[in-house]
Amino acid sequence: MSRPGAGRRPLVSGNWKMNLDHLEAIHAVRDLGLRLQPADVTSVDVAVHPPFTDIRSVQSVLEGEGIPVALGAQDCAVEDRGAFTGEVSPVMLARLHVEYVIVGHSERRTHFGETDAVVAAKVRAVLRNGMVPVCCVGETVDERDIGLTQERLTAQVSAALGGVPAVEVASLVVAYEPVWAIGTGKAATPGDAQEACAWIRGVVAQVAGEEAATQVRIQYGGSVSADNTESLMVCPDVDGLLVGGASLDAGAFVEIVRAASRTAR
Ligand code: PGA
Repeated sequence: MSRPGAGRRPLVSGNWKMNLDHLEAIHAVRDLGLRLQPADVTSVDVAVHPPFTDIRSVQSVLEGEGIPVALGAQDCAVEDRGAFTGEVSPVMLARLHVEYVIVGHSERRTHFGETDAVVAAKVRAVLRNGMVPVCCVGETVDERDIGLTQERLTAQVSAALGGVPAVEVASLVVAYEPVWAIGTGKAATPGDAQEACAWIRGVVAQVAGEEAATQVRIQYGGSVSADNTESLMVCPDVDGLLVGGASLDAGAFVEIVRAASRTAR
């Protein structure tokens, strides 16, 4: 099956959230390394986003054992350094060879009050430090029910990416994560995912131009499993997946990577 997308290399990311301590994390990435075959990663990129306390351990295993998985983080501070007790600097993440940083996940927006302005500042902090933001956007069930999905996505994408140079927008990742699909077992239908991702690409075109919109990678996230991966990945505007629960089990995650890579060939 060939992808109608414009040569965008799919990215399958595992968001571990607040799960797996550093010892469990070492075990999990070793397991991932044993299961992943070279063919699994010839046409897709794979990343894991462990909790902060795991990152150094996971980095050592990935680099020491040559596992073809990029290192990610789940959040970062807006500032590079200073009196911000409890925050984790993007400079420190970059020093640990973190490549991708999730920004504006709905759990951060909902539980920690992150506004569109904070998310925008974090996108800039990640870019400033040479890493790739994975900028999460998505509507709540109430917004969907009253027909506000497109309006909400437009507002979130414009706020996060407005004013960012087009060449940097082209290199980043937007994750469409409808809040009602996260952790519920109720993934968006491929039709709904495609419609939203195409809409997001249109907003990126308005904000940063057609060229950036053609290159930006847009992931779908929310109850992704091996069973729904292929149907989501064949959508022309879905360039990858942000996987929560199913990424905690190396076997399940590799099945998702494999299914994604089948659609990418
Ligand atoms: P889920 O989480 O796959 O467990 O629904 C996705 C996410 O929040 O990134």
